[in-house]
Amino acid sequence: MAFPVTRLRRLRRTTELRNLVSETRLTPDAFIYPMFVCPGEGVRKEVKSMPGVFNLSVDQAVKEAQEVHRLGVPSAILFGLPDKKDEVATGAWHENGIVQQAARAIKSEVPKLILMGDVCLCEYMSHGHCGIVKAAPQSLGAAVAAPPAATTEYEIVNDASLELLARTSVSLAKAGIDIIAPSDMMDGRVGAIRKALDEAGLINTPILSYAAKFASGFYGPFREAADSAPQFGDRRSYQMDGANIREAMREIEADIEEGADMIMVKPAMPYLDVIAAARERFELPLAAYQVSGEYAMIEAAARNGWIERERVMMESLLSIRRAGASIILTYYAKDAARLLA
Ligand code: PBG
Repeated sequence: MAFPVTRLRRLRRTTELRNLVSETRLTPDAFIYPMFVCPGEGVRKEVKSMPGVFNLSVDQAVKEAQEVHRLGVPSAILFGLPDKKDEVATGAWHENGIVQQAARAIKSEVPKLILMGDVCLCEYMSHGHCGIVKAAPQSLGAAVAAPPAATTEYEIVNDASLELLARTSVSLAKAGIDIIAPSDMMDGRVGAIRKALDEAGLINTPILSYAAKFASGFYGPFREAADSAPQFGDRRSYQMDGANIREAMREIEADIEEGADMIMVKPAMPYLDVIAAARERFELPLAAYQVSGEYAMIEAAARNGWIERERVMMESLLSIRRAGASIILTYYAKDAARLLA
């Protein structure tokens, strides 16, 4: 039935009508709030490239967790800034690692908050890569400690890294982390982590895998927040090429076969088509990560008066939900929850 019988504007006349026919609704109960935990006491240090986001010492992280919970956001994901970095990421898997300390403290004060642990090695490695680094065969003998000049001169070793990722996951779950979220992009990590968790008796700890994680320039501000920039080279040999959506489906499929309970696409807004394709194809709960660069762009433009902050914040979250992600990891979790209340 065409115009003039059909007039789509009839249902747009008032706020009430628009709400009635809204196809996509945002609710805080599907938000995950990222937090960066650092050593010390009373530390609340703002991240320069992410206004409103802080490095928090454990005591402050507990306060933040209480606020997150009070606002109706059900979950937070923890990232750690260790006091020391080394070549085997000790800070990631040590029972007194910074995230382990934070998990114990938060769980005892805010037990109902679902705590996720980002499992990766980059924050804890002196070289800032997500796995173990070895000089490549053609330059064997070259010290890895001295930054290799070209990507062909070093290798991020896949299989040996799995052991550290599995050890980290078990350690985090034992400290009270409810959901393990591997973000390293090594092949086989989900299977290795599932096996290690099960062997440790942690059969009820779910895995949210960063299944399709792209090598992205949008992670820039995060690397300041988590002090995790690679000291040489880049992450293109393990994170995905932004050109590939079919390969993203294979990555997700592999993680599901290895035992992932939930899957995630990251970043979010530049990859809405990947979110939509994953929603269409897979039945698992699907999350998307609105990453640091997405947040920083909106904040910077809003500070310049070029866009309306709250409007763009909500529109960006709505677009991610509309594309098919039911769960959204976002630095806006608290602000959006306040607006939705
Ligand atoms: C760790 C990790 C990163 C992010 C989440 N986990 C950084 C990276 O891969 O370089 C990025 C999150 C963000 O930008 O907000 N590997």
